[in-house]
Amino acid sequence: MPIEQVPFVALGRQYEHFRDEILEAFDRISRSGQYVLSEEVELFESEFATYCNSKYAVSVGNGSDALLLPFLSLGIEEGDEIITAPNSFVASAWTIHRTGAKIVFADVGDDFNLEPDSVRESITSKTKGILAVHLTGRIAQMESLIEIADEYGISVYEDAAQAVGATRNGKKAGSFGKFSAFSLHPLKNLHVHGDGGIITTDDSNLSEHLKKCRNHGLKNRNECEFWGVNTRLDAIQAAIARIKLKHIDTINGRMRSIAQTYRQELCDFVRVPGEHSNEKPVYHRFMIRHERRDSLKDHLAKCGVQSAINYPIPLHLHEAAKELGYQKGDFENAETQAKEIISLPLFSEMEESEIDYVIQSIKSFF
Ligand SMILES: Cc1ncc(COP(=O)(O)O)c(C=O)c1O
Repeated sequence: MPIEQVPFVALGRQYEHFRDEILEAFDRISRSGQYVLSEEVELFESEFATYCNSKYAVSVGNGSDALLLPFLSLGIEEGDEIITAPNSFVASAWTIHRTGAKIVFADVGDDFNLEPDSVRESITSKTKGILAVHLTGRIAQMESLIEIADEYGISVYEDAAQAVGATRNGKKAGSFGKFSAFSLHPLKNLHVHGDGGIITTDDSNLSEHLKKCRNHGLKNRNECEFWGVNTRLDAIQAAIARIKLKHIDTINGRMRSIAQTYRQELCDFVRVPGEHSNEKPVYHRFMIRHERRDSLKDHLAKCGVQSAINYPIPLHLHEAAKELGYQKGDFENAETQAKEIISLPLFSEMEESEIDYVIQSIKSFF
């Protein structure tokens, strides 16, 4: 039977796979009456910390809060500057802005991640830290970034929203930074059935502060130590996350294997993402590049292949970024990439026939 459409993702298929376990968890938690900050949440946090080789993990309501809360807890404020990448999702930037600090961008390299030389050039006496985004599930050049940060006495943080389970030189995403932020949004490799996020850190003071901060600043039921916020992971979401976490290496393994097939089959036609022997990206996205990206995207749509652009507008060129004073041309690589990138369908339940159809559809364009 000919393929009519290859979806970009198919969340329902993964649900079918875990349905029995999820329904059992839903029933168990519903009967327990423990819906918020329960033992289930604590279990997920400790299992996630162990998975990332990190000492502590604190869950929150979404991946953006997993960035914002640690910034607030660490005292990032007006007058400070944080350097990050201009080719990320908007949350990497607005969470810096929300602290009162200034967003400073540095350019990215062919790996779609912060270019250490550009980061170095962006450091000023106000710089407090570098927020490295592991875009597409590939870890940034953390050794170089940490070396630069150490030289200037500043911190490195990880926006690991897209990178759960990725490794570089044998180290897991979430184990490099002062803190690391993960998203459990439905489009992420490890996802829940709604919004969710989690922070890892080796800093016990930060972990304790975050636990209060996500829960109104309360130190116990009746006493508020400082004004916090309300951003907590529901027990049911934690239970779903625990079920998926048991299988995340298998899920990521399948993503890596599909990526490898794409790479082998497409490298003569488009620019495919590279992979070095010291790293294991998890391919949250498989992002190819071509000068005629828009025509290619139209062609794929005509073939019934859904695709996406992550992201079409570099952060410094958004209306929201006007006050920062950046211009077109300030970040050459990020801007060129934004015109050339296209993300292909990639999810762990993809059928071989669908993978093949995507490949044939791209080849037919050429
Ligand atoms: C790189 C990056 N940072 C931060 C976020 C924010 O995560 P959330 O959507 O869970 O708030 C996302 C998710 O879209 C992301 O991809």
